[in-house]
Amino acid sequence: MAGKVFFSVTMSLDGFIAPESVEDLMGRQWRELQQWIFPQRFFRENLKLGKGGEEGRDNDIVRETFERTGASVMGKRMFDAGEQAWPEEAPFHTPVFVVTHETRDPWERPGGTTFYFVNDGIEAALEQAREAAGDRDIRIAGGGATILEYVNAGLIDEFSIALSPMLFGSGIRLFEGVDAARVALEPVRAEPTQRVTHLTYAVRER
Ligand SMILES: NC(=O)c1ccc[n+]([C@@H]2O[C@H](COP(=O)([O-])OP(=O)(O)OC[C@H]3O[C@@H](n4cnc5c(N)ncnc54)[C@H](OP(=O)(O)O)[C@@H]3O)[C@@H](O)[C@H]2O)c1
Repeated sequence: MAGKVFFSVTMSLDGFIAPESVEDLMGRQWRELQQWIFPQRFFRENLKLGKGGEEGRDNDIVRETFERTGASVMGKRMFDAGEQAWPEEAPFHTPVFVVTHETRDPWERPGGTTFYFVNDGIEAALEQAREAAGDRDIRIAGGGATILEYVNAGLIDEFSIALSPMLFGSGIRLFEGVDAARVALEPVRAEPTQRVTHLTYAVRER
């Protein structure tokens, strides 16, 4: 059976997932937004931030999200930010398809991550990701622009949001420009922890 297409992001209470400028990515707002994930053991070890860390429900959710993912798709801006920040052993350990106008040869990292640069649109990238993922799910990793393209094309089955208890004020808004007349949501799960509220929805066409 083919896997689900999903995304999983951290969002501020006022709806933002990143600062406007990539230069601000390591800034205060980003750190506050993501404060729940940095202490998690799985996240720390996967990003080579050091051993040890929290092992509660937040950690399980990070690990489960990783384990269900057989391939990822991301936008070029997210890739550009990650290319600077990820360790040499990039944290995906699966094929990753980058939708972009830039032509570039595949970039293979140690540990099983290979980035493929796809120039013929989101559907072609998804098709390649489905093939690579086998029975596992396909994660639309981000950022906001790319997620929105998939939502508006009716290609997302399910998504999870870690709702972070902070306000951004401005930045990249997750649902800016969503085709709200087309998308209906069905609650699947709501799970609060001490740090964030994990919300999961199934997406249905209206
Ligand atoms: N809060 C979270 O959990 C979370 C998760 C993931 C990412 N993020 C953040 O999101 C930010 C990036 O998001 P973003 O919305 O600015 O950008 P993005 O979606 O990562 O990338 C957009 C870019 O991808 C390329 N692209 C997208 N669709 C395309 C298509 N159909 N055909 C060809 N190229 C296409 C274009 O770049 P080119 O024209 O240059 O090729 C476009 O400018 C980063 O700062 C990242 O850290 C946050």
